[in-house]
Amino acid sequence: MPITFNEAAKSFKLTAKDTTYVMQVAPGGYLAHTYFGKALPDDDLTYLLRLTEPPFTPETNDRDRSSYMDCLPLEYPCFGVGDYREHVFSIVDENGATAADLRYNSHKIYDGKPVLEGLPATFANDPSEAQTLEVTLEDKVAGLEATLIYTAFTNLDVITRSLIVKNAGTANVQLTRVYSACVDFDNDEMDMITLNGSWARERHPDRCRLRRGKQSVDSLKGEPGHQYNPFTALCSHNADEDSGEAYGFNFVYSGNFVSEAETTQFGRTRFVMGINPVDFGWLLEPGESFTAPEVVMVYSDSGLGKMSRTFHDLYRNNLIRGEYRDKRRPILINNWEATYFDFSTEKLVQIAEQASKLGIEMLVMDDGWFGHRDSDNSSLGDWFVYEKKLEGGLKALVDKVNSFGMKFGIWFEPEMISPDSELYRAHPDWAIQIKGRPLTMSREQYVLDYSRKDVRDYIYGMMRKILDSANIEYIKWDMNRQITEPASNALPKERQREIWHRYVLGVYDLMNRLTTDYPYILLENCSGGGARYDPGMLYFSPQIWCSDDTDAIERLKIQHGTSLCYPCSSMGAHVSDCPNHTVGRQTPFATRGHVAMVGTFGYELDVTRIPQEDRDAIPAQIEEFRKYNPLVRTGDHYRIGNMFEDNTWDAWEFVAKDKSEALLEFVQVLRRPNMHSRRIRLKGLDPDAYYYDESAPDKKYSGAALMHAGVIIPEQWGDFRSVIMHFIRA
Ligand code: GLA
Repeated sequence: MPITFNEAAKSFKLTAKDTTYVMQVAPGGYLAHTYFGKALPDDDLTYLLRLTEPPFTPETNDRDRSSYMDCLPLEYPCFGVGDYREHVFSIVDENGATAADLRYNSHKIYDGKPVLEGLPATFANDPSEAQTLEVTLEDKVAGLEATLIYTAFTNLDVITRSLIVKNAGTANVQLTRVYSACVDFDNDEMDMITLNGSWARERHPDRCRLRRGKQSVDSLKGEPGHQYNPFTALCSHNADEDSGEAYGFNFVYSGNFVSEAETTQFGRTRFVMGINPVDFGWLLEPGESFTAPEVVMVYSDSGLGKMSRTFHDLYRNNLIRGEYRDKRRPILINNWEATYFDFSTEKLVQIAEQASKLGIEMLVMDDGWFGHRDSDNSSLGDWFVYEKKLEGGLKALVDKVNSFGMKFGIWFEPEMISPDSELYRAHPDWAIQIKGRPLTMSREQYVLDYSRKDVRDYIYGMMRKILDSANIEYIKWDMNRQITEPASNALPKERQREIWHRYVLGVYDLMNRLTTDYPYILLENCSGGGARYDPGMLYFSPQIWCSDDTDAIERLKIQHGTSLCYPCSSMGAHVSDCPNHTVGRQTPFATRGHVAMVGTFGYELDVTRIPQEDRDAIPAQIEEFRKYNPLVRTGDHYRIGNMFEDNTWDAWEFVAKDKSEALLEFVQVLRRPNMHSRRIRLKGLDPDAYYYDESAPDKKYSGAALMHAGVIIPEQWGDFRSVIMHFIRA
């Protein structure tokens, strides 16, 4: 049984594969946290609460309840009742007061996992995959009920959390902070890892020791942004890829977030995660409910590698949906870096024709096909075909591309509006704005008010017309700026602070309609590269454009960081032309292919113009991708090298679940003079089985030898060279 209740101790024990999570109703009715870590047989860990040590419990020492509150490990600590550590819940009640006090009322345990109304979340494919515990806490004074929802996955070291707050009273309540999770660790000796960066260098891992005080990453941009990702790992100081304890937290949400660790005065750590409370507010009228998004919590007793593989398995099987979830994605060619805005029907047809001959399977027409868009300064919101550019219309182009045996995909930026657009001229009030204030421009565009259903309906109507007009089988959904002047013309004064969250719910609503109405369309998310790479988006699209930086060497870092939490099968990755458009670097065509092969794979170049030698290499490169993609999509991913620690090389591996084969990819970033070749140790193989390298099948190695003694990587002449080796069980 993954979830049990011990009546005598009033404790709940959640078992997720080899992980145990225990909480209990403590004196005073508070829901206390006792344990999160490696599996234990015990279900009563009351001794860890040290209730017999000062400051004692309210029952024995009510003169100092505040001290008790300030050191009790809690599942859902409220503001204003004695716990001065970071709180996860605060309100403004009908009298303007801000304290809240949630205490245990009831609970239930059931098979499966509930759906979160209007929000993406992980799911159980059938009820036996997970069990759920709902603990309802109540604040009698404010008339609130908070139902904490915990799901333990049976075969994965994963526990998820979310909650529903209901106004069960008779007066209005303003919610001012509703985080989704809090975990109190009985220890402050940990490192914190976050994924930080900027445009063109997203999700670089950053690791530091927890220090006194609070340390956090967050966003107030209306999306997670390039700078921080809604992921955090807390791990032991000695944790590396293969050993040590690691806890991973990921927020299934695509808007403003906070992820914070606080070390406390008593040598503990409180970790919290949720919607950013800055400028957040939600009015709950009697009978209304608010659902907080999900936090995924992963425990690993064997380092960061196992933590990542658990996230990958969960997201591949219990988050990503749709037709392409378990399928190889079509090999696409995208015209962005090939033409930018300067293309015509003829140009696209030339690219498609040439590409089809080389084995490429889909043409994606990127930005510039609508309104009168010749640069990024117009037409967002005018989702009708730019006939002057696309002579003959969209259908004729798509038919032509289809006639080469290729699929066709298209780019949209549905959340945006250009001041120079028919839409803006007709509905200037549809842009997010504060009446009377100038709108702040970014990439010469504004953000549409997606909290409004009429706005979403209108945009979706235009998109449908396009989608129904031709055989379109892929959409790249882009989002190229962030929110400013946060207010809505459609919300009453007392609900203005809801705009941020309502915006995200609006985006989810439209993505939901799109994926429901067009289930055969492959949706790829994008936000100026990878500014919205989060599990909320993965619920709707099985792949996300990792970064606008397509340079193979920069991608080593970006893809390494991304893999900490997100599966390689979700990483949009393309082979582009050289010198690279972001960094001007020249890398071998083969290396560009090997690095893009880690992800969804495709091309982003003018195939009619690249050097003949590169063009000639494409069919074999595609062959190689097709051969290894099943392993990349379904196997276990191991990071072997780390460019952040040694910038001369990188390596990673994919191992089949049954350990029958492994793909090793190695990149010699910088050539070392006067050195022996490098030895690399593989991971994840069956130590007792024998394997051979497909390119030299006569020599057999035991799995143990490959993992402990290693293999020799043939030395390469020059920088940025790559080598792949395929080991097969003999
Ligand atoms: C963003 C995307 C790019 C491209 C451009 C088009 O920057 O990340 O891939 O689609 O928009 O304007």
